[in-house]
Amino acid sequence: MSGEPIVSIRGVSRRFPGGHYGVRGVSVDVARGETLVIMGPSGSGKSTLLRCVNGLEPIDEGEIVIDGIHVGHGTTDWNRVREEVGMVFQAFNLFPNRTALENLVLPQTVVRRRTPTEAREHALRLLDRVGLKGKEARYPAQLSGGEKQRVAIARALAMNPTVMLFDEPTSALDPEMVLEVLEVMRDLARDGMTMLVVTHEIAFARDVAQRAVFLDEGTLVESGPAEAVIDAPETERCRGFMRRIRRERAVIH
Ligand SMILES: Nc1ncnc2c1ncn2[C@@H]1O[C@H](COP(=O)(O)OP(=O)(O)O)[C@@H](O)[C@H]1O
Ligand SMILES: [Mg+2]
Repeated sequence: MSGEPIVSIRGVSRRFPGGHYGVRGVSVDVARGETLVIMGPSGSGKSTLLRCVNGLEPIDEGEIVIDGIHVGHGTTDWNRVREEVGMVFQAFNLFPNRTALENLVLPQTVVRRRTPTEAREHALRLLDRVGLKGKEARYPAQLSGGEKQRVAIARALAMNPTVMLFDEPTSALDPEMVLEVLEVMRDLARDGMTMLVVTHEIAFARDVAQRAVFLDEGTLVESGPAEAVIDAPETERCRGFMRRIRRERAVIH
């Protein structure tokens, strides 16, 4: 990897009350403009890892540094973390009683302190960019799942983040809507966004991600070029997992 990593995750552990580890001793770096795909079975710690990166989950050991900001220390500047790290969830998490446009305008005026006019212009550009021109005035309930997720992506982008985190962004979608969301993510990666993506869409991962990691039971089991981790895993655990998701894909598509 060339240059300083923009996201540095060093020996990170998160132990839940009761002693169970969500992640344990995970280290991985992401360079600027790189896409890292995070894979692993349900309960392997993928969400916990992303949540540690944006400060939704405290870190018990190790450290995370994002573009020079230390996350999870006593001195963390949480407002900066919120500005620099955008997150997209499986369940969209839009404000249901706000239109698509308002969903983008509101956080910009609160967190980035933009004027309503600035925020609105920026929001309109971003909604256009994710293919939602003409649907700005719709409420989330009037949008399809794929459209809702594209609003959620645009909303995260509206903050001009340095890094975007995606936690299974397409797994709540009907199959015919998966591609339109992956296309938006592919364009973002192409435009140089740094992304950490939890997904089991292997074609997307192989195509868009430079690197992949495989987690199992909270620990990082494999890490390397995306094609290598997906197509030629070194460990039996990762091989078995890749076989399983290929079989599941074959049934769906
Ligand atoms: N708030 C919590 N309290 C206790 N255990 C949790 C909590 N959140 C997650 N876990 C546990 O941590 C492990 C990793 O969870 P998670 O990161 O959600 O996995 P994944 O996203 O890979 O499915 C699981 O065993 C899960 O049950
Ligand atoms: Mg998860």
